[in-house]
Amino acid sequence: MADHLVIPAPAKLNLVLRVGPRAPDGYHPLGTLLVALAGLEDTVTIAAAPTRTLSCPGAPGGPANLAWRAVDALEAACARPLPARIDIVKRIPMQAGLGGGSSDAAAVLIGITALYRLGLDVRELERLAADLGSDVPFFVRGGTQWATGRGERLLPRSRPADLWAVICGPVAPLSTTDVYRTFDRLGHGGAIDPDPPTGPWTSGGWVGNDLWRAARTLAPELGAAAHDLARLGAHEVLLCGSGGAMAGLWTTRAAAETAAGQLRSVIAITSPRPSVTGTG
Ligand code: C5P
Repeated sequence: MADHLVIPAPAKLNLVLRVGPRAPDGYHPLGTLLVALAGLEDTVTIAAAPTRTLSCPGAPGGPANLAWRAVDALEAACARPLPARIDIVKRIPMQAGLGGGSSDAAAVLIGITALYRLGLDVRELERLAADLGSDVPFFVRGGTQWATGRGERLLPRSRPADLWAVICGPVAPLSTTDVYRTFDRLGHGGAIDPDPPTGPWTSGGWVGNDLWRAARTLAPELGAAAHDLARLGAHEVLLCGSGGAMAGLWTTRAAAETAAGQLRSVIAITSPRPSVTGTG
């Protein structure tokens, strides 16, 4: 048995985020094209240890951290204790809509499973992941995926290789719950189209985020950030997930770098991460 594992936990971008009306279970049906990003990631190190410890500077410890609850879920599924030392180095900002906490939790599911050779396959891990949060199944799978339901139904899509994103912010740290609540208050257009968009992302009209209006209502300063990215020639400007980071999209690295050089709050210049499972 390896005595420790180092697992990268990448950020994500929702290239499309369609949100339907609130369902009786309190959640909103989604249709979202999720892309794991290269060049913006946390690092999760997992080592065998006599008791469970979690170090995650800058984020809550214990059960308030989704990574801790990921081990709880595995222990419950396997009906055995799985003590480990978990060290998370965070680079993905929190409350940015970039999926950092969910990605860390998925890395812990994968890492503990490997460390203890639990023999759970990816489908079983995805089932556990779905109970932890909407983005966690995606991070178990990685690559580029069209996600529907609450994020648990995944369909592999090809990687948009000509996509370069300049990520700025978080312009305003936003709580996912507050953004969805505001989305409900503002009203919405009805049922979502469950089919993935087709054609190149640059063909226009299909990149978008239904949470934009709600996030902008809570944090009007997002509008100025969107304006800056558009002024610098981004093909598309996008709220990241439920916010509050913003992304401007370009087709070449050089164009993205030129734009980033003129912005103050750049976190990363990123592109889609090739899938480990070979689906992207
Ligand atoms: O699943 P996740 O932990 O990211 O969700 C955080 C909160 O966002 C949920 O408690 C819920 O209030 C809201 N949410 C929602 N519909 C979704 C995803 C999240 O209403 N599909």
